[in-house]
Amino acid sequence: MSGAPFRLVPLDAAHDRAGFNSNSEPLNRYLREQVTQDIRRRVAACFVALADEQCIAGYYTLASASLLLSDLPASTGKKLPRYPTVPAVRMGRLAIDQAFKGQGLGGALLADALDRAARSEIAAFALMVDAKDETAAAFYQHHGFIALPDLPLTLFLPLATVQHS
Ligand SMILES: CC(C)(COP(=O)(O)OP(=O)(O)OC[C@H]1O[C@@H](n2cnc3c(N)ncnc32)[C@H](O)[C@@H]1OP(=O)(O)O)[C@@H](O)C(=O)NCCC(=O)NCCS
Repeated sequence: MSGAPFRLVPLDAAHDRAGFNSNSEPLNRYLREQVTQDIRRRVAACFVALADEQCIAGYYTLASASLLLSDLPASTGKKLPRYPTVPAVRMGRLAIDQAFKGQGLGGALLADALDRAARSEIAAFALMVDAKDETAAAFYQHHGFIALPDLPLTLFLPLATVQHS
């Protein structure tokens, strides 16, 4: 993580959502048009990396989720209680502005999400992600995430393996 110049904070109304420009228009539009409503309804929390007071260099969202025990690799599932689902935290979206790509910021936001999920008082077995394509899935695998055997674009990382900050 290059880290130092960025501040990682919850999204607030003063931040410049309109100026955010990743290479994914749906992810730009979500930040511009949808995220504040999702936050108000408590279906997502959003955290941003600020390059200065208001410039958003990257963002991600977190929400509660669950994983079907039967979707997990057998080696993982056999160590878990025999309930139909296990609790998880979903990182629904992650995007970096094109001006800030390739500087370690995506990895830093991922580490921040893992840290928040692992520090929560509400237990979750894993951080899970739905990768939007195979390139995104490769990014998560590079960071240790494991793909579900029959759903290769859904990946998870057990939180017990995460070092707390
Ligand atoms: C995917 C994305 C978040 C990566 O952010 P980034 O800041 O450019 O990535 P980083 O600089 O933090 O890369 C960190 C590490 O991941 C690796 N990496 C980046 N993209 C990768 C990929 N597609 N496959 C494998 N490894 C990848 C880098 O080589 C780097 O490795 P290192 O730490 O060993 O040097 C960014 O490109 C993006 O916003 N893409 C568009 C939206 C998107 O795809 N979101 C993903 C989820 S739906």
